[in-house]
Amino acid sequence: MNALLDLPRPLAAANLTQVSHAVAVEERTAANGHRGGILWMTGLSGAGKSTLAMAAERALFERGWQVFVLDGDNVRNGLNAGLGFSAADRSENIRRVAEAAKLFADAGMLVIASLISPLQADRARARAIGGDRFHEVFVAANLATCESRDPKGLYKKARAGAIPEFTGISAPYEAPETAELTIDTGVLSRAEALDELLDYIDRAFGKAAVTQGRV
Ligand code: ADX
Repeated sequence: MNALLDLPRPLAAANLTQVSHAVAVEERTAANGHRGGILWMTGLSGAGKSTLAMAAERALFERGWQVFVLDGDNVRNGLNAGLGFSAADRSENIRRVAEAAKLFADAGMLVIASLISPLQADRARARAIGGDRFHEVFVAANLATCESRDPKGLYKKARAGAIPEFTGISAPYEAPETAELTIDTGVLSRAEALDELLDYIDRAFGKAAVTQGRV
């Protein structure tokens, strides 16, 4: 383990040599007209992370952005198939998505990662992987709101004891204290929430951020 970041190290690190890319990150930023980076959305199931992420993806795509959503439910079907919901599996789920998101960001894209990511330590590790291009968004809606929405019927099942370790019911959710942005979907309308998110994305990754020399 890398003691500082608590990240796994390659097994054969001694025999690996980093290869430099022929396209610099500044060139990608200039070509795209926006910075690459990671917008990490955390919140309870039913808080609206995926809805917001997909709406932002659509809106940014229509503006010509290179943007892609990595959604927990989706990546658990492929890259992270085989991982469950124990603390250790969630941690690995989050680590892998953070590493994948970093690759997308290196490729110049804005990645919107939408994962419950319930524990502060796992989000801190994701931030350490992403570096200064990592921005955390707390999609805040309290448990009562999420449970009353219950879009997938999972809270009902969890209350009935049919889903073990369900976040908010029988597994913890630690609200972030260092998020760059908080969007309370229990208070804002869908359109207002999307506007707030897009405003933030524009400030952090858009033309203004590029002209300030941040790549
Ligand atoms: S995380 O905790 O590892 O970040 P992730 O965002 O990938 O979770 O997946 C959460 C999704 O898995 C939820 O939206 C829900 O559809 C589904 N799910 C299934 N079982 C659970 C569970 N025990 N706790 C939370 N979500 C669950």
